[in-house]
Amino acid sequence: MPGVVIVGAQWGDEGKGKVVDQLAERADVVIRFQGGNNAGHTIVRDGQEFKFHLIPSGILHPGKTCAIGNGVVVDPKVLIGELDALRRQRIDVSGLRISANAHLIMPYHVILDTAGEAKLGKYEIGTTKRGIGPCYTDKAARLGIRVQDMLDPKILRTKIFAAMEPKKQLLRPFERDPRLDLHAMTEEYQRYGHRLEPHIADTAKICWDALDAGGTVLFEGAQATLLDLDHGTYPFVTSSNPVAGSACVGAGVGPTDIDEVWGVCKAYTTRVGAGPFPTELDDEIGAHLRDRGHEFGTTTGRERRCGWLDLVGLRYAARLNRLSALAITKLDVLAGLDPIRVAIRYRSSEGAVLDRFPYHQTVLHGARAEYVELPGFSEDIGECRTEDDLPQPAREYLAFIERETGVPVKLVGVGPGREQMVALG
Ligand code: IMP
Repeated sequence: MPGVVIVGAQWGDEGKGKVVDQLAERADVVIRFQGGNNAGHTIVRDGQEFKFHLIPSGILHPGKTCAIGNGVVVDPKVLIGELDALRRQRIDVSGLRISANAHLIMPYHVILDTAGEAKLGKYEIGTTKRGIGPCYTDKAARLGIRVQDMLDPKILRTKIFAAMEPKKQLLRPFERDPRLDLHAMTEEYQRYGHRLEPHIADTAKICWDALDAGGTVLFEGAQATLLDLDHGTYPFVTSSNPVAGSACVGAGVGPTDIDEVWGVCKAYTTRVGAGPFPTELDDEIGAHLRDRGHEFGTTTGRERRCGWLDLVGLRYAARLNRLSALAITKLDVLAGLDPIRVAIRYRSSEGAVLDRFPYHQTVLHGARAEYVELPGFSEDIGECRTEDDLPQPAREYLAFIERETGVPVKLVGVGPGREQMVALG
């Protein structure tokens, strides 16, 4: 498995970290290619809990090179906090590499994110308020500050000045905010630069060297397909491209370096923030999924919206990412629900049958999901380790997903622990 991309196939929080953690054992390099600390996941290992927002969870494997690619937006304060927390937990972080070309989240990005949402009022996107959108905006406007800039105080100051100046109007209510003092900000980011310097590198070359030597590189996506800036449920999306194609740009490799694309999806669906969600459940089944699945955001603590599995969205993700394998997480959460419902098509507000994910926002907003019912199971499946251990209805459920998406299911999560995974096929 030389070049393997891992992406979220729904609206995020599918448990990609856990799947990456499994596959990382066989990888030489794990690299993140987009997003920032809007992502978050928790890995439980031997009873110890590790929280990640920026650093690839592959860091838990001693000696593994873990990289933050050029496509990621980095809040250096958060990154240093994460490094310190890992050190306190006695994890060797010497294998961390940060792309010199990755863009930095600055204090004004965080302020703009919050202010922008407040301005939108009831039309808000429901962002994580981590400054992600404003940072990518500056990147596209060529006003971004990059990781390498922290190592050159003169350039750093000039660039911060140039980036902050056009925002003065927008930032007027924050004029006296000490976080926006040019001198203090330059010094602060210079200090971060000193701390991170040993980790700053040409991460694209790290990938090339590993691939050229026949090694395996895992490209770790954050967020997910339906939150993609171009292909997701715009404008209720993130400001980067979480689809598999973006791994090439965000890590600096070519399309022919990619051999496999794994999509991760939950056995049901969740979404945080605003936007259309055709299989959303506002009833006791939704509450069951939220409680059993502990569906509260790792980054913001927000309650996640929950619903049945949506095969219209999943088929779309399968084709868009050209998935070669599926990992289905949290199958255990469905225990006790009978029947299990799965959306196989939508019905538009005019009554038209929609087998495919509608490209028009208005159509999607008005779409109602139509379901098939499959038999449920009541057993606790947390101890299952092989396909044969799974109850028949659970196996049928997985086979149904495979048939409908045309993608083989290769891994199934049956509980939060590392070992609670079933490999299929
Ligand atoms: P932003 O990425 O903070 O700009 O937020 C934009 C949208 O993406 C919001 O709906 C967020 O809730 C959502 N989002 C961002 N990161 C994640 C994630 O890691 N999991 C789930 N949703 C996310």
